[in-house]
Amino acid sequence: MTSEPLQKARDFEAQYGPHIPDSERPAFHATPTIGWMNDPNGFSFYKGECHLFYQYHPYSNEWGPMHWGHLKTRDFIRWERLPAALAPDRDYDAAGCFSGGAVELPDGRQLLMYTGVQRSHNAEGFLQDVQTQCVAIGDGIDYEKLLDNPVLGGKDLPRGGSTIDFRDPKVWREGDTFYAAIGNRTADDSGAVLLYRSGDGLKWEFVRTLDRCHNQYGKMWECPDFFPLDGKQVLMTSPQEMNPVGLEFHAGNGTVCLIGDYEPEGKGFLRQYVQAIDYGLDFYAPQTLLAPDGRRVMVAWMQNWGTVGAKPYHCRWFGQMTLPRELAVKSGRLYQNPVRELENYRSCCVMHSNIPVSGEVNLPGVQGRVLDMTVTVRPTGGEMYRWFRIRVAKDGEHETIIRYRPSDGTLKIDRTRSGLPHDIVHTRSFLVRYREGEIKLRIILDRFSVEVFVNDGEQAASAVVYTRQEAAAITFEAGGSVLMDVEKYDLTFDEQEMEG
Ligand code: FRU
Repeated sequence: MTSEPLQKARDFEAQYGPHIPDSERPAFHATPTIGWMNDPNGFSFYKGECHLFYQYHPYSNEWGPMHWGHLKTRDFIRWERLPAALAPDRDYDAAGCFSGGAVELPDGRQLLMYTGVQRSHNAEGFLQDVQTQCVAIGDGIDYEKLLDNPVLGGKDLPRGGSTIDFRDPKVWREGDTFYAAIGNRTADDSGAVLLYRSGDGLKWEFVRTLDRCHNQYGKMWECPDFFPLDGKQVLMTSPQEMNPVGLEFHAGNGTVCLIGDYEPEGKGFLRQYVQAIDYGLDFYAPQTLLAPDGRRVMVAWMQNWGTVGAKPYHCRWFGQMTLPRELAVKSGRLYQNPVRELENYRSCCVMHSNIPVSGEVNLPGVQGRVLDMTVTVRPTGGEMYRWFRIRVAKDGEHETIIRYRPSDGTLKIDRTRSGLPHDIVHTRSFLVRYREGEIKLRIILDRFSVEVFVNDGEQAASAVVYTRQEAAAITFEAGGSVLMDVEKYDLTFDEQEMEG
């Protein structure tokens, strides 16, 4: 039975969603049907198709009582819209259906596990959350919430665990057993990831704490994910209130990838390496899936809580997902590259090789706002160049700059003049591995975003831009002399088929 709040959301999105023309949306990044989107939820395969749910408030372009929006895709690039899947319509989720995961049950149904949020007054009269884990089961369109919800609550927490911050279950199945990794705040006020187990997806028990923050990487650890990859085990989380650490972690909401080994029957997760996941301005709450062909694919909310107040006036959708990325672990580092399916949409190849650059140049055929471009830069002559800049989404007033400086090995994204006239963070720098001044940058532009993949996926950096679409020039500039190769493709989509 579809509840009244869910029916209302479905009617609303069916009525107003189609009013947003495709030209006002990204060409290939996932956006909400209407209104607000944050975290990816339930990113998983079900009956051979990839489903992506999302934190959703259809009624405005701001965060509000959380629903789950619903998309699916056959190739990670083109998204079909499905009706909203969950609405806050029970006592235990009256204040929102927060983030969670999805898994296919052995009987062919799909299980969604999410955080139900209730609000109540604490001893000081302040409103505070009570967060529990809840389940809904369905057929890929309609879901019934379990009568026995919530399936996990305060009594299932290890000692000192907070019931205010207990959220974002990521579920998966191994043989006959279901697992869930869930974020929690511990007695020392910092984050932890808890592991739970179930035989049927309905009755759950605590297994162990997978890792704890000890106040080192932020406070509450949101949206965890936990999976094996290339012989290592990866634990991802999105901490709130991070302290900055060099150019690796910036202040505020960040993302952390912990890489180590896993002894399920022994010591558990043994952390060895720690790094940021994305080094740009807009990236949070990543979630992964295991594709039927064995790839581990990640998608994230291409936004940051610190900058969500900065949005185009009266926009009817807000929030988009990153391009899904294929992950790998090599020498203790996480590698990320765009899903290979993107290459099916390449057209109009333009190649330039060994181009000398010393002032600012533009190249024939190299412009546009929806494209896939790889730029390789090498020093030339006796002296190391001082800097190299690529300007995209450029016209007389606007530009988004990607700048590499070999002397200190920093890459910087600067979207100061990218159509967001708000007083927010617009630049971010990070360290890249030094290779004698050589650098390779794959830049994916969509109408409202820039994603940069450095040196074949060693690092990635994402930023939203709202520069008017006419700003489509691209230039290259060096302080000193470089030789440059450019390989550029337009990305073209049959708009008719894009939106289901
Ligand atoms: C992360 C987050 C989650 C929560 C959701 C609410 O962005 O804060 O922890 O479930 O957003 O929308």
